[in-house]
Amino acid sequence: MYAERVLSGMRPTGRLHLGHYHGVLKNWVKLQNEHPCLFFVADWHALTTAYDEPGTIGENAWEMVIDWLAAGVDPSQATLFIQSRVPEHAELHLLLSMMTPLGWLERVPTYKDQQEKLEHKDLSTYGFLGYPLLQSADILIYRANRVPVGEDQVPHIEFSREIARRFNHLYGREADFEEKAREAVKKLGAKRAKLYEQLRTRFQQEGDHQALERGHALLDEAQNLSMGDRERLFGFLEGSSKMILVEPDALLTEAAKMPGLDGQKMSKSYNNTISLRESADSVTKKIRTMQTDPARVRRTDPGDPDKCPVWQFHLVYSDEGTKQWVQQGCRSAGIGCIECKHPVIDAVLKEQEPMHERAQAYLDDPTLVRNIIADGCERARKLALETMRDVREAVGLSYA
Ligand code: TRP
Ligand code: SF4
Repeated sequence: MYAERVLSGMRPTGRLHLGHYHGVLKNWVKLQNEHPCLFFVADWHALTTAYDEPGTIGENAWEMVIDWLAAGVDPSQATLFIQSRVPEHAELHLLLSMMTPLGWLERVPTYKDQQEKLEHKDLSTYGFLGYPLLQSADILIYRANRVPVGEDQVPHIEFSREIARRFNHLYGREADFEEKAREAVKKLGAKRAKLYEQLRTRFQQEGDHQALERGHALLDEAQNLSMGDRERLFGFLEGSSKMILVEPDALLTEAAKMPGLDGQKMSKSYNNTISLRESADSVTKKIRTMQTDPARVRRTDPGDPDKCPVWQFHLVYSDEGTKQWVQQGCRSAGIGCIECKHPVIDAVLKEQEPMHERAQAYLDDPTLVRNIIADGCERARKLALETMRDVREAVGLSYA
C-alpha cells in the first residue's frame, strides 16, 4: 500500500568511529540503493540526557553529518535532515502523548536500564520518560515501515507498533466506514469496481496475497480518488479499518563485529576507538601500540591469536591467505607482532582513504553540508505534513 520506506536516526554524540561504520553506516549505504531512505540527526533525543550541556549538540550534529557523508551516505539518494528542524515531530509526539498510557512508557526496558547506567544524572524527567514516544513520532510521521536499528532499539520499535495500533484503533474507525468504503468502490467505475471486489474476496477468503498486491496496483492506478477514499479502499481491501499510521518493522542490523583497540566492543566510553576520519599517523600509532597476546613477551614466544585483539581486526579486514599467515606465524613465533599488524594498518588506511576524500570537500566548504540538510529538512517536512493533516483530522483538530 505504501512503498517500502526506510527511516533511521542517530543521536549526535560526537565523532563517529569504525564501530559505527561497520555496524550502522555501511548498512545505510546499502539500503539507500534499495529503498527510499530518510536518515536524521536525533538532536531532541540527545537533549533528553544532555539537557544540561546544550553547547555540544550543534557541533556534534554537523560533525556527525560529515561522517555520514564521508562514509558514503549519498544525499542524492537518501534524505538527510535534523529532527528539530521538522517541528511536526514534536506536534505528533504531543498528540500521541494524549493516548499513551503511562504504564507503557514505564515498562520500556531501556527506561530503567539507562537511568541506572547514567545514575550520576537526574533522568526522572518527563522528556526522558517520553523518549520512546518521541522515537515513535519520528517513525510514524513518515509512515516508515522499515527501521534499521541495533538489538538495543528493538523494544522501541515494538513500542511504536503498539502506539500505531492504538492510534488506528481509536481514530481509524469512522462510524460509517463500511458505507463510505462501498461508496468509494463505485467511484472506481464499473469495470474496476468489479475487479476490486473479486480481488478483495480472494484475499479475504483465501488469503491470496497476489490478489492483495493486484488490488494495491489497481488503487495506485486509479487517478480520480480523493486521499480519504483511497485510504478507505486500501483498508477495505485488507479487511481492516482505515489505517492512519503504519506499524513499522525493525530491520535488525547484525551486531557489529568491530572490536576496539583493546578487544572489547569499540565504544567511546571504553576509550578504544579509531574515528572514521582519524589521521593516518594516528591510526598507525594506535594499531602499532595495540595490546597483543600477553603471553607473547619475547619475539620468540609463540602466541595465540584467540587471545589477541589484533586477530579480531584481521577477522574484519583480512583475506583467507593473510589470516592463515597470522595463525601459523603467530603460533610458531614465525612472525613478530609488528609484522602481523602491518596488513591491518594498511587495510584500515585503505578503507579510510575515500572517507577522507569525501569529507574534505565538506570541510573546505561547510555551506555544502548546510545546503544538503536544508534540502533534506524541506523534503522531510513535506512528508511529515501529509501525515499530520490526517492525524489532525483524526483527532478532531481540523475544525473550522
Ligand atoms: N534511539 C535511537 C538510538 O539511540 C535514535 C533514534 C531516535 C532513532 N529516533 C529514531 C532510531 C527513530 C530509529 C528511528 O539509537
Ligand atoms: Fe597477535 Fe599477531 Fe602478535 Fe599473534 S602475532 S599475538 S595475532 S599481533
